[in-house]
Amino acid sequence: MSFDKLKYLSGFANEFASEDPRCPGALPEGQNNPQKCPFGLYAEQLSGSAFTCPRETNKRSWLYRIRPSVVHMPFEHSKQGLMNQDWKDTIPNPNQLRWLPFDIPKKSAEAVDFLEGTATLCGAGDPCVRNGAAIHIYTCNSSMGDKCFYDSDGDLLIVPQQGALLITTEFGKIKVNPNEICVIQLGMRFNVEVEGPSRGYILEVFNGHFTLPNLGPIGANGLANPRDFQTPFAWYEDRDVAKYTVMSKFQGHLFKSIQTHSPFDVVAWHGNYAPYKYDLANFCTVNTVSFDHIDPSVFTVLTCQSTKPGVAVADFVIFPPRWGVADHTFRPPYYHRNCMSEFMGLIHGSYEAKEKGFQPGGGSLHSMMTPHGPDAKCFEDCSNAPLKPQRVAEGTMAFMFELSFSMTVTDWGNKTKVDNTYYKCWQPLQKHFSPPKTDPTDGPSKVKKAKK
Ligand SMILES: [Fe+2]
Repeated sequence: MSFDKLKYLSGFANEFASEDPRCPGALPEGQNNPQKCPFGLYAEQLSGSAFTCPRETNKRSWLYRIRPSVVHMPFEHSKQGLMNQDWKDTIPNPNQLRWLPFDIPKKSAEAVDFLEGTATLCGAGDPCVRNGAAIHIYTCNSSMGDKCFYDSDGDLLIVPQQGALLITTEFGKIKVNPNEICVIQLGMRFNVEVEGPSRGYILEVFNGHFTLPNLGPIGANGLANPRDFQTPFAWYEDRDVAKYTVMSKFQGHLFKSIQTHSPFDVVAWHGNYAPYKYDLANFCTVNTVSFDHIDPSVFTVLTCQSTKPGVAVADFVIFPPRWGVADHTFRPPYYHRNCMSEFMGLIHGSYEAKEKGFQPGGGSLHSMMTPHGPDAKCFEDCSNAPLKPQRVAEGTMAFMFELSFSMTVTDWGNKTKVDNTYYKCWQPLQKHFSPPKTDPTDGPSKVKKAKK
């Protein structure tokens, strides 16, 4: 099946049911595991939550496949790639950090696939206790071939920056272009093909699954609308091979197993636990129409909530093209120290608060309580600009992973494409303080107020 002709199931976390049209009737009717499944298929449940979770958080799907996933040789530790938890071994860095665009390997020099080209940039916590997160960067130039990957540690939110990802999953096929994202959840096996040099970002959360943020007074619609999320239709291949490699990340380490058939042999499935994609162009932005810069939480696409009310393990936030109309307001982001960690990336265009230095395919990390804000030029320009309605971020898509953990950069992240000049963008900020002129014989009540 061509990746360009794909159609998708519509909706966020629905109870879906899909069977490959080449095999109508593959989905059992009225029960999950009949004594004999249609067409000699095996029934297999994939659980994404504890069996006993309340209905609103209970996640599982039933897969009807040619062979159950258990048919594989034993896993062995693998040194492939740089996806790890090496942040546990490095000295933390409280500075503002910025990375120049990460280099994509040249195919003429070395073929690198999605998994081989994924490196962990920073992280916190521990998947063994289901608490923490990691940010990875992928740069690759080749398809995975007869190899798939699944993450036993967390959910993966993948943000392509350059090059489409052609992803085959146990649930079907998804094509994810830059300016789209996809989420592949705990345990789901997938294979990535690429069309050329490819680069992007991955947010991995160990705690739970992404949900849509509550809208509160915004109402029933707006931000990312549920109908715009797309899940694949069932697709299978019945293909025996001499050696199919199944890779797993388990407790922060990669493992490798061999089997002699394609794992993408799910003929039909049903349930509410499936991969999905979303086009960021569909985000319905809500913002001020009076004054002040609203907190960026209003741009949240997806959130992974912690057990503390209102506190996210991680939010995925975007800064899409929009109108800026705020009156008597410094419109760019305010200067800020945050009890959360903020990793930013740029898919395309240029980010308003820092037009130079922060480039597509690069990134920045402003850690817990690390001060940050607009660079000196942005402050001066926007403090004096006429406040007409104005297009903001035209042709641009920046995003933020905002995490409640203090993230530690890995050895790879400390050595790769670090922009050591970043701090300089704030050094030209001038002192503008101009206290009122006072007559020393007057009391404090005689001080003239500053003009508005
Ligand atoms: Fe911030």
